Amino acid sequence: MKISVVGCGYLGAVHAATLASMGHTVVGIDVDAQKVAHLNKGFAPFHEPGLDELLRDGFATKRLTFSTDFADAAGAQTHFLCVGTPQSKTSDTADLSYVIAATKSLLPHLASGAAVVGKSTVPVGTVDMLRGILARRPDVLLGWNPEFLRQGTAVKDSLVPDRLVYGVPGGKDSAAGTLSRLRSTPSTNL
Ligand SMILES: NC(=O)c1ccc[n+]([C@@H]2O[C@H](COP(=O)([O-])OP(=O)(O)OC[C@H]3O[C@@H](n4cnc5c(N)ncnc54)[C@H](O)[C@@H]3O)[C@@H](O)[C@H]2O)c1
Repeated sequence: MKISVVGCGYLGAVHAATLASMGHTVVGIDVDAQKVAHLNKGFAPFHEPGLDELLRDGFATKRLTFSTDFADAAGAQTHFLCVGTPQSKTSDTADLSYVIAATKSLLPHLASGAAVVGKSTVPVGTVDMLRGILARRPDVLLGWNPEFLRQGTAVKDSLVPDRLVYGVPGGKDSAAGTLSRLRSTPSTNL
């Protein structure tokens, strides 16, 4: 399956590399050109055991690429939102501006029936707000699959998570099944 991962920091780079190791074709998209260049050389911009090896495996199999161009996400059946959600500088809430910007940038490139699945840590109500941005695309499934990886064991936590949480629209149980099946063919023994 072709998958895009939007936001290739700690969460996104690990998620992209582990999905590629499971046999998917993955494009990681980030607005930070320096980070993308670094990742495309097979090096994570931070230290995480096992990640450089997974990145290099992904490139060797041609299943993993990184880009600053959202057009490269076109044709993906599933898009994971992995951008940052820091605390707002002006209030106690999370700053969702990166999530909103990423969703807007993806919008023109969403294939019919695609799924946009957030992994970033967000407050309740975020999906309803993003649904407004995707209002003209009722065919696109919008859900959430929060991440619980821990720095230092992120690759292992991502390959073999101790829990999987899916928030998908009512009556769309098959969406949770599809997301679970994405993870059903790990090829790395960690
Ligand atoms: N780091 C962790 O251990 C961890 C664990 C669980 C959950 N999370 C959650 O994951 C999310 C991401 O965290 P992180 O640590 O990876 O953050 P990060 O700051 O390392 O990475 C965020 C990336 O998003 C990119 N970005 C920003 N705006 C963008 C846009 N419009 N389009 C594309 N890319 C964009 C940035 O350039 C950056 O590379 C946060 O919500 C965080 O709470 C993080």
